[in-house]
This record gives sequence, C-alpha cells and structure tokens, in this order.
Amino acid sequence: MVKVCVLGASGGIGQPLSLLLKLNPYVSDLALYDISDITAGVAKDLSHINTNSDSEGYNKDEDFKNLLEGSELVIVTAGIPRKPGMTRDDLFKINAKIIQNLTVKYAKFAPVHCKLLIISNPVNSLIPVVIETLKINGRLNPSQVFGITMLDIIRSQTFLNDLLNDKKLRSGSITSKQFDKTLNLNNINVIGGHSAPTMVPILTNKNLIHQQDEIDALYKKIKFGGDEIVKAKNGKGSATLSMAYAGYFFANEILKKINCKGVNLNDCTPVNLPSFVYLPNLPNGKLLQALLNDYSGIHDLNLEYFSVPVVINPHTGNIKSLDISILQNRNALSESELKDIKAACVNLAKDIKTGEDFVKKNY
Ligand code: NAI
Repeated sequence: MVKVCVLGASGGIGQPLSLLLKLNPYVSDLALYDISDITAGVAKDLSHINTNSDSEGYNKDEDFKNLLEGSELVIVTAGIPRKPGMTRDDLFKINAKIIQNLTVKYAKFAPVHCKLLIISNPVNSLIPVVIETLKINGRLNPSQVFGITMLDIIRSQTFLNDLLNDKKLRSGSITSKQFDKTLNLNNINVIGGHSAPTMVPILTNKNLIHQQDEIDALYKKIKFGGDEIVKAKNGKGSATLSMAYAGYFFANEILKKINCKGVNLNDCTPVNLPSFVYLPNLPNGKLLQALLNDYSGIHDLNLEYFSVPVVINPHTGNIKSLDISILQNRNALSESELKDIKAACVNLAKDIKTGEDFVKKNY
C-alpha cells in the first residue's frame, strides 16, 4: 500500500487520473496538488468513493512537505495543454518554469526511492529540465525518472487493432463480436520522442501489416493522433481521458512492482513500458547512444535522451534496463523508418538543448 501524489490534479488529465488511482487497490494515500482552488474539493469528492485509500487536497506552497513526504510515486500533469495551431514546443516557456519548481520540491521532500513520472508537455524538453534540476539539487537517479510516452503506444495499438479487425471483418473470418481490442505491448513500438518530428512508429518489423497504403495511413494517424483530439474538442483541450488512462496504465505497472514482494508473482513479471529517459548511467544507455550516433550519421551526436521500452525492476519499480532490440536489428526496419529515426535524432538534439539551456539560464 503506497502513497501517490498527483501534481496538477485539478486539470483535465489530473482529475480522471486521480479517479483511476483512487480505485487502485495498491494505493493507500492519494495526495493531490494543484494551484487551482478546487483541489480540496476534488480530493473531498474522491473521498466519498468507498475504496481503501484516503485522498487529501493541497494548493499552497507550504504544503509540499506534507504532500510529498512518504510518497512512492509522483505523477506530474501540471501545466498548460495545447491549443489549436500550437506545437508542444509553444508550451515550453510556461511549462518549463512550472516543472522546474515542482522538481525542486520533489528533490527536497520526496523520499530517495520515490519515482517521478512526467506527463506535462513538451516531454522532449521537460525531461532534460527535470534531470538538470535534479543534478543541481544532488538528487539524480535516472532510473526513477520517466517521461510518459505511453499514450503513443496505446493509441497505436488501438488504431492497429481497428485496422486488423476491419480487415478480418471484411474477409468474413470474424464477426464484430470477435473483435480483438487488447493492448499487446509486443505488437507495436513507437520510439524516439513525443512530438510529430521525433516520434517514430515502427510498423513493419512484426509483419502484421503489409500494404503500403495501410502502413502510410496508420503512420499518419499515430503521428497526428494528438492533433485529431485538439481539433475534435474545438481547441478547448487536448487528450485528457485517454492520457489519464495511459498515465494510469504506466503508474499501475510500477505500483504492481513496488507491491509485489512475493504476494502476487504475476504482478512481478518484468514488463516493457515505453518511456523517454536519460540514457547515461542506465544499463545499455551508452550502447543505445552509440547506436543512435550510427543511425543519425552524426558521429559525435551523443543523444542523452530517447524513448524506448524500459524494463522495470520487479521489486523496486525503477528502470532495470532498456530494451533496445528494435534498434539493434537494423535489417528489420524499413527505409522510411530508418529515415525517420535519423530525423528524430536531429530534432531531439534541438529539443533536449532547449531544456538544458533553460536550466542553465534560470538557475
Ligand atoms: P489542464 O489545463 O486541464 O490542467 C493542468 C492543471 O495544471 C490545471 O489544473 C492547472 O491549475 C495546473 N497547474 C498549473 N500550474 C501549476 C503549478 N505550478 N503547480 C500545480 N498545478 C499547476 O491541462 P491538461 O489537459 O490536464 O494537460 C496537462 C499537461 O499534459 C499539458 O502540458 C499537456 O500538454 C500534457 N499532455 C501530455 C500528454 C502526453 O502524452 N505526455 C498527452 C496529453 C497532454
């Protein structure tokens, strides 16, 4: 039973994420923080649900000690979301300051084993803000910091399932009642970063789809899935419910590991989750950096961040290693995937520098 904090808990993602966490059997304390004055009300609202956890709302600077003390997991959804026509980078100036401040509080008050999950955008530049801030505060443990790119995988798998189910339905091999909508983390990969120029859907290596027009349509849908939601919500919000689910899915996998300690062995099996992580000091991190140099064609690029599936330590919930098999098997990638990885590396280098420069200038 663990304490989980949500920072940004009164927002579009924060509220449904907090609801899902309130239903989670591993959570004993749900500590909610947001600058919004409805936060105590959100916590009160959740407290009327008859699950075995307490929920407490906080919204003042002096609350951070109580909020973060004893936490196992801190999930950050604080910051502004995209409006139509905005890129994730446009958010940076506002969100970087927010994330920097929250990281300082985490470094000061959260226990040393506490994991930090960042949902706020732009992930590609905010994770470097977090890492640089942790370095300055003497609290860096890269195996505990996760940039959440899970939604890219969840929506990719959903779109892939739709395509495969539709094909089977048209061929008459299944009825609509036999649709398979399960999430199979081994079916599909999206690597690189969390923005259209850095996101690389890997669609061809599993031989699940062959027709080029289908690959192209799926590729576009995955890359611009986030924009589709912003447009459908008439510019009044971005992905919130699906993001809350994706963030919850990720958090739950870590909660299962923290809690397993011999109780439920099924919950202890290692699982690969996609995450945008800081590579130096992580097992296989240096190897991945060398591979990315090769893919980019830039010998001294030395990218320090990338999103790949990470293997979670079945006891601590920290990152145990990186699953870099996709990048090690170059022959299984298509020409356009290779081109995309190269472009992603170059664009990521700029995004990462944006985050690092911000901390240099603002400390
Ligand atoms: P929202 O505007 O509905 O909620 C954000 C919340 O953060 C608000 O309640 C606001 O009061 C709070 N907040 C602002 N400054 C704060 C501070 N200093 N401390 C604590 N709370 C603070 O936005 P929404 O839709 O919930 O999105 C949150 C973030 O998640 C955005 O940056 C968005 O771009 C990002 N996002 C990330 C995705 C991903 O795949 N990683 C997918 C979708 C959104």
